[in-house]
Amino acid sequence: MTLLLNNHIEIIIDCHRAFENHFSDVLKVAPSLTRKIVSYQGNKNEPFYRWYKYKEAFSSSLVEYLLFKYNIPKGTVFDPFAGIGTTLFTSSLLGYDSEGIELLPVGQEIIFNRILAQFDMKESDINILEKWKNETPWNSGINPQKLNYLRITQGAYPKTTERRIGQYLAELGRLNNDKVAKILLFALMCILESVSYTRKDGQYLRWDYRSGRGNGQNTFDKGKILSFNKAIKQKLEQIIYDIKNPRTGLLFSEELTSIGTIKVHRGSCLDILPQIDSNKFKTIITSPPYCNRYDYTRTYALEHALLGINEVELSNLRQTMLSCTVENKPKKLYDICVNYSKVDKIFENQKLLNLILDYLEKQKIDKKLNNNGIPRMIRGYFNEMAVVISECFRVLGNNGYMFMVNDNVRYAGVCIPVDLILSKIAEDIGFEIVNILISPQNKGNSSQQMGDYGRKAMRKCVYVWRKP
Ligand SMILES: C[S@@+](CC[C@H](N)C(=O)[O-])C[C@H]1O[C@@H](n2cnc3c(N)ncnc32)[C@H](O)[C@@H]1O
Repeated sequence: MTLLLNNHIEIIIDCHRAFENHFSDVLKVAPSLTRKIVSYQGNKNEPFYRWYKYKEAFSSSLVEYLLFKYNIPKGTVFDPFAGIGTTLFTSSLLGYDSEGIELLPVGQEIIFNRILAQFDMKESDINILEKWKNETPWNSGINPQKLNYLRITQGAYPKTTERRIGQYLAELGRLNNDKVAKILLFALMCILESVSYTRKDGQYLRWDYRSGRGNGQNTFDKGKILSFNKAIKQKLEQIIYDIKNPRTGLLFSEELTSIGTIKVHRGSCLDILPQIDSNKFKTIITSPPYCNRYDYTRTYALEHALLGINEVELSNLRQTMLSCTVENKPKKLYDICVNYSKVDKIFENQKLLNLILDYLEKQKIDKKLNNNGIPRMIRGYFNEMAVVISECFRVLGNNGYMFMVNDNVRYAGVCIPVDLILSKIAEDIGFEIVNILISPQNKGNSSQQMGDYGRKAMRKCVYVWRKP
């Protein structure tokens, strides 16, 4: 059996090599695409972006860089996985109209509140915000509102903090200004992690030992847990400062032209893409969830509980997301995509992917996978991405570029070159593969994978595809 598996791995490696040869002219290390620029780190201290550090984001400098470098003509820029709207806000500042789709309420909330804060707040609204920050009316003894919680967020805050959050919400309920109330609720959402016992950790929420969770076995120390009053005052100060002193944070552009419009759809791109007219967009700049088991519905559970999401809704969101967790069940894609049979044929004919999936299925039978849902997740991921790519091809105008940021991953010792597989799917759909730009600092894989198989660099890339 081991011999068979070794043989199987060799066949995968050969096929992987053949794919690399196929794309050898377009695979290039791009020194300017540093980890900082392709991740949220580039935005960490930037105005507006610093309000909520969305670790899944890329930086606004990346969007700016791509629009300039590829000389994208004015028109509408599209992002089917909008996150906190980095593509949308940056393009808009540079005079492009923008349109995006985001499924998760946390991302939607960040986008809509930023639009409100940046474009809609009057001086009188800002004065009320300042008054709240200075007078902290929630401390005056009002009865706390009960917090909405999910099973996985129960007991997430120290008791005094939970009471203060409840009082803040109760006081908010008495406020007679809708816009200010929205920003105040948003400010609260931005500080939840910092005042809680939890830390976002990719696949789940990690709990500090002080929470009492873990039957005395838990030694994880997340460091300082901020007091509610300190955290909310700091956050309000930051928000008020950025609203009063708008700076673009742009890197390359000195002068701004007129600001473009921003349109955002709430929901899944798998449902919304088919409703969009063909050839509508000048360019697409996007980054889907990676095929890495990260469960955003768990890591953003504190925020979703605050936004009133219940258990059923959370589980529906998990199933609606692009398949990237081991719990995702296959979606009915033929209902979604008009030319699904063509896309499905392209997907089913992916040789390297099929070899990898066969190998992982065998590993599953031999009980060698740490989770049996892994092959199903990977299959679902690429199948859904094939549909997304096909729909993006349709909605993109001729000569339009599609840029995608994504990471390669590894399971059971086998590297999955997401960049090569998705680019092959894109090529079969009709895209010209212009470049697969490799970020110069590679990272390893999860600590478990590194322990088992040694450190081997996984590529992080920006794919550059063009619709002829
Ligand atoms: C890697 S993040 C993109 C971050 C974005 N580039 C930014 O800078 O904020 C991927 C996003 O896709 C969203 N997402 C996942 N499945 C989706 C779906 N089916 N439709 C639309 N958005 C989805 C996730 O909620 C997440 O915000």
